[in-house]
Amino acid sequence: MSELERIAIEKAKEAVHLDRQGSREAAIARYKEAIQILSRLIDLTQSPVLHEVYKDRMRQYLERLNELNSEAAAKPVVRQSVSSASKDELQIEPVESSVRWSDVIGLEDAKRIIRESIVYPWLRADLFPLGWPTGILLFGPPGCGKTLLIAAASNEVNALLYTLDAATVMSKWLGESEKNIATLFSKARKDISKGRPVVIFIDEADSLTAQRYLEVGGEARARNQLLKEMDGLANKNKKEYLYVIAATNKPWLLDEAFIRRFHKRVYVGPPNAETRLQILKHYTASLRVSDDVDFEELASMTEYYSPADLYNICLDAHISTIREMFEKGLDEPRKISMSDFVYAIEKRRPSISKDLIERLMDWAKRYEAV
Ligand SMILES: Nc1ncnc2c1ncn2[C@@H]1O[C@H](COP(=O)(O)OP(=O)(O)OP(=O)(O)O)[C@@H](O)[C@H]1O
Ligand SMILES: [Mg+2]
Repeated sequence: MSELERIAIEKAKEAVHLDRQGSREAAIARYKEAIQILSRLIDLTQSPVLHEVYKDRMRQYLERLNELNSEAAAKPVVRQSVSSASKDELQIEPVESSVRWSDVIGLEDAKRIIRESIVYPWLRADLFPLGWPTGILLFGPPGCGKTLLIAAASNEVNALLYTLDAATVMSKWLGESEKNIATLFSKARKDISKGRPVVIFIDEADSLTAQRYLEVGGEARARNQLLKEMDGLANKNKKEYLYVIAATNKPWLLDEAFIRRFHKRVYVGPPNAETRLQILKHYTASLRVSDDVDFEELASMTEYYSPADLYNICLDAHISTIREMFEKGLDEPRKISMSDFVYAIEKRRPSISKDLIERLMDWAKRYEAV
């Protein structure tokens, strides 16, 4: 198995090398071999992570193979070097967020830590002779507000928010990944020099390191580039308003070197019954709800449902009254009843499981830093 992987890496490296040199025919042959081996590996592996990694790799090689084949058909003589192709350039633009802290329900600890790290230094840099935390890792189950927290913090300091998911960096052609990261950071530094704080948000941070299983086209270099950029941020004399915030729901896939770069490692956990109650009320505030709806009861029925699930439950319950209105030809939808909510809950499986929480808590015991 690992021998097969080694051969796949070997073939892929050769392919990339030949490809860069412009030896198209030879590159095509090597890509084909690498793809064959990868498809064997996909059949053999028991690990879902590796399965994804192999599949993703194979998809990339197939794409490149198709490109090379069509290049051959279109212009048989001209050879194009991969790394000079303009489509490889990183296309990523910052956004401005309009999320407010009040949109994030519960998560008081996480909010406090993020505010302390981002908002206070922005307001009073003079109070931070030792600098401030520039790397924050948020980990927790899906749909519990990691992305929302980052958006709220960015909004408060009027920051530009660059979202970097692994796909954005990695789907660019092989060997370009580390260049993409360098480009992004230098772009961000230009923004800062214009007086805006910048947040670089690495979503699904685990996929950056999970890729290391099959280091072929520069993923390891991309990751190392990122670490290097982060070390630059940690330089106490610089005091830049440039933050790297990463989010993951599989922190155990991260490696130590990566984890160490984040001064703050914050658990963004599932809502308790009290918070679920608030969330349900929040999302129904603009809806017409019948008197028979017992929100406490709904909150106690929804353990392991994430805030995102709860939002969807409210939406489903509401839509069912609208559907009924149209079906029955009424003028207005009736109020949402308890049974609409119960039905919506029954139809939707919770996104969170006990196992997942236990695993995250275990990881937190070792790595949480707040
Ligand atoms: N704490 C919260 N308060 C209110 N709404 C929330 C909260 N957390 C999540 N939501 C709702 O769920 C949606 C998804 O949340 P978000 O994208 O922040 O989750 P996440 O933790 O980043 O999940 P993932 O790990 O899947 O990326 C939000 O847009 C919001 O509607
Ligand atoms: Mg998210």
